[in-house]
Amino acid sequence: MTTKNLKKVIYPGTFDPITNGHIDIIERASHLFDKIIVGVGANEKKGAFLPYDMRIELTKRVLAKISNVEVRGFSNLLIDFAREQNTFTVIRGLRAISDFEYEIQLAEMNKKLEPRLDTIFFTSYEHYAFISSSLIREIASLGGDVSSFVPSEVRFILDNKFKKKA
Ligand code: COA
Repeated sequence: MTTKNLKKVIYPGTFDPITNGHIDIIERASHLFDKIIVGVGANEKKGAFLPYDMRIELTKRVLAKISNVEVRGFSNLLIDFAREQNTFTVIRGLRAISDFEYEIQLAEMNKKLEPRLDTIFFTSYEHYAFISSSLIREIASLGGDVSSFVPSEVRFILDNKFKKKA
């Protein structure tokens, strides 16, 4: 594969909410590729906690300082989003061996559906390997401190959301 083919990549996810672990991967990828399209999946099936529009807005705000990142929402198949963006390289993070099985399944299925699509994996930096969006939601909902795991913009939204519920 030549560098030319690697100019633009898609980093898809639900980002419910975006965490420092996701940002670490995006920052590292931003040094390797010309452009990162961060695809915020509507993923209605997953029963998102933050509304789709808010996840897109928050992801945009948090990543605004990285100049070669563009944030876009998508509610169709990843392969169709890739076709719309004319970008057939996807990056995903691997936090632990437990992620591997699911990620391989996703990558292989996407490849079957769209043979031009390839997935590149980034291993998570050890400091972030234990973070997941659902743990962040749970800790925040029970009044715990999530400030080491998410950017301040996300913490503000979570604080407000749970304060209102209390
Ligand atoms: N740091 C911290 N957390 C990370 C992480 C990292 N580097 N990488 C993944 N995670 C966590 C997320 O926080 C999330 O945690 P949660 O499950 O506790 O909420 C979990 O890992 C996985 O989330 P995410 O990376 O957002 O992926 P996903 O599995 O929710 O969604 C899509 C992946 C959007 C790519 C997939 O659902 C998709 O392609 N949807 C479109 C529809 C489609 O094409 N379907 C057919 C696929 S073959």
